[in-house]
Amino acid sequence: MPAEIMTREQYLRQSLDDRLPYYEKDGRIYDVMLSQQFSREFMENLFDVADRLKQISREPEGMDYISSLLRHKRAMLYFTQPSTRTFLSFLSACQIVGMRTGEVRDPTLSSEMKGESQEDALRTFSSYFDLIIMRDAKPGFCEYMAYLFKFSGRDVPIFNGGSGKDQHPTQALLDMYTLHRSFQDRGGISGKVYGFVGDLLRGRAVRSVAYLLSRYSDIQMIFAAPSEFQISPELESYLLDKGVTVHKTDSLEEALPQVDSLYMTRVQDEYDVSGESSRVDYTRYHLTRENVSRMKPDAVILHPLPRRYELDPALDTDPRAMYWRQLRNGMYIRAALILYVFGKEHLLDEYRGS
Ligand code: NCD
Repeated sequence: MPAEIMTREQYLRQSLDDRLPYYEKDGRIYDVMLSQQFSREFMENLFDVADRLKQISREPEGMDYISSLLRHKRAMLYFTQPSTRTFLSFLSACQIVGMRTGEVRDPTLSSEMKGESQEDALRTFSSYFDLIIMRDAKPGFCEYMAYLFKFSGRDVPIFNGGSGKDQHPTQALLDMYTLHRSFQDRGGISGKVYGFVGDLLRGRAVRSVAYLLSRYSDIQMIFAAPSEFQISPELESYLLDKGVTVHKTDSLEEALPQVDSLYMTRVQDEYDVSGESSRVDYTRYHLTRENVSRMKPDAVILHPLPRRYELDPALDTDPRAMYWRQLRNGMYIRAALILYVFGKEHLLDEYRGS
């Protein structure tokens, strides 16, 4: 390895400000790694692109037009952690913009079983594909790959579809898009109270969306969690630094009447080291037919899914339930992001359909 290329440990030890420039090209986001990459202006442009995509794709001619935009590109989906929605939503997003796709979901069926490193596996994908979308349990691994690609002679963009307990930036974008749509006739995202419930320490979706909400003004956040699973001091000081009003509580009941949006999450017990989840009474963090009545009538309920018992399926027909809408929004926001990264989003304005 030439001396100037850092090891993973060296690379990740660098500050965020030192790492972020690697994920840009010509002043635009190239690799989608972390929520901290997205400004409010960037998000709002992306929401417009997603709106336009939704609108154009209502007509078969519009669908044909959109699917011509990236017909010459291929995407690789490399998901080594379990996934239903993120995988399928990215797959559908690729199909919408016309990309063909390949996938590895089970590394035991790839040459990694023969002892190949993950670094070599990804470099192999970059030889055949023009975009890599990946989910992996190791925080920072996809960031390091994006960095390594800069020296590989074939640098293709990488999208982080979930990096362990760390981040899930495209989930955060789809959550923000859902909030944007929910609150667009009610003064927008600013000036509202956002509740987060559950395993807030290990849930990557919560961390990523909290970063993005802090881009807006006059934001209050209420974090309702058992003390074992409260947000990290790092996240709290980041939010305070951005002017967010932060309130931590172990009582869901206290949060319910106050929030304009409630973000429910499941216990992330796959990250247990010694059965810590089983020692926590999570029933206190369930949203039920009974306690939902304490919420404002126009609040919204979000959940990145999958759910377990924390969100009663009986609530699915409640007009405040937005979690099934989040899925479809996710498909469009991901399609918008792919168009953006390949510099094609402006072509939507050239569509002159019915
Ligand atoms: C989330 C994830 O994988 O982080 N799910 C998702 O991507 N829709 C949330 C979770 O698994 O709890």
